[in-house]
Amino acid sequence: EKGGYDHFMLKEIFEQPQTIFDCLRGRLDATAGTITMSGIEKYADELVNTNRIVMVACGTSWHAGLVAEYIFEELCRINVEVEYASEFRYRNPVINKGDVIIAISQSGETADTLVAIENAKNQGAIIFGVVNVVGSSISRASHAGAYTHAGPEIGVASTKAFTAQLAVLTMMALAVAKKKGTITEQRYQTLLKELEAVPEKVSKLLKSVDGIKALAEKYKDAEDFLYLGRGFNFPVALEGALKLKEISYIHAEGYPAAEMKHGPIALVDETLPVVFIATRDSYHEKVISNMQEIKARKGMVISVINEGDEQSISLSNDVIIVPEADEVIAPMLSVIPMQLLAYYIGVARGLDVDKPRNLAKSVTVE
Ligand code: M6R
Repeated sequence: EKGGYDHFMLKEIFEQPQTIFDCLRGRLDATAGTITMSGIEKYADELVNTNRIVMVACGTSWHAGLVAEYIFEELCRINVEVEYASEFRYRNPVINKGDVIIAISQSGETADTLVAIENAKNQGAIIFGVVNVVGSSISRASHAGAYTHAGPEIGVASTKAFTAQLAVLTMMALAVAKKKGTITEQRYQTLLKELEAVPEKVSKLLKSVDGIKALAEKYKDAEDFLYLGRGFNFPVALEGALKLKEISYIHAEGYPAAEMKHGPIALVDETLPVVFIATRDSYHEKVISNMQEIKARKGMVISVINEGDEQSISLSNDVIIVPEADEVIAPMLSVIPMQLLAYYIGVARGLDVDKPRNLAKSVTVE
C-alpha cells in the first residue's frame, strides 16, 4: 500500500507530479487559454465584485492561504486577509454581506475551520471551499468550491495536499483576474503555461533527492533551525519550519527574512542552520542581503535557489537547486525540498515520520 516506499509521507511527496497534474486536469487548458472551474462560474459576479476575501484555515492549509493572499492581491487587486480558523471563530470578526470566505482544508473536517465558516455564512458571507476529501463537512457547508483531487493523504504531515491547494488557488486567482481585467493577456497566458509545466518540473526536482538526504545526515543533530523567505516564498519558510517540527521534533521557526533583524537574529551563531528560500524573484536581491547578515554572524546557510545563482552559492554552506519558475508559481516547487529535508531528518533521527507523537491527521475537536 506504500507502493514500494518506506513511508506514506515519502510516497505522497513523490506523488506530487501526478497529483498536481490531476488537480489541473480538465480545468486548465493553456493552449486554449482557459480555466474552467464550475464553482467560480457559479459565483463569478460575487468574486469579481467582492471588496474582501478572507482565507480561513489551520496549519499547512493556513500556509497555502498565505501564499494565496500574495497571489490574489497581485493578480486580482482584491484585499485579502488570512485567518487562523480558531481565532476567527471566537473573536466576533467583522463580516460584511458579499465578503468571500475561502476555507482551505485537506480533510474537510477540521472543527475550527468548519465552525468558522458556519458562523460567517450566517452573517451573509459567501463560502468557497478548497477541500481535498470529497463530501466532507467543510465541502458540504460551502456554497461552492473546488476539490484539490490530491487523493487520500495518509501521512500526518501534509505534503501533496498543500501543492494541490496552491494549484487550485492559483487557478482561481487567474480565473478571477481574467474576469476582472486586472491581468494583462500576456501575463495570463504566461502563467497558464507556467502552471501547466509544474508537474514536469516537480518530477525533475524529485530526481535530485540524494543531495537532500546527505544534507539531512549533516544537519540531523541541530537543536534549532531558522527558515527565512520573502514575498511568495515567505509562507514556504513557515511551512518548512512546521514540517521539520512535526517530523523531526527539532525546534524550528519560520520568519519573513527581513523580520529576522527584529529579534531572531540574536539566535544566530555557528551552530544554527538557516534555510533560505531564495529562488530568483522580485525580492531576490533583498534576500541576498539577508543571507549576508546571517553569514556575517557565522550561521550555517542552506539555500534553496535556482541554477547559476552564484551570489547565493558563495554565501551558502549548502545549496538545493530547484527549477526556475515565475514567482507566483515558485512556492509549488520550493516547498518540495522543505518536505524532503524534514522527511530525511526525521528518518535519520529514527522517528516514526508517518505518525509523529501527539499529532492526529485531522483535528476534529477544538
Ligand atoms: O485537514 P486540514 O487541512 O484542515 O488540517 C489543517 C491542519 O491540521 C494540518 O495542515 C496540520 O497542520 C498538518 N499536520 C500539517 O502537516
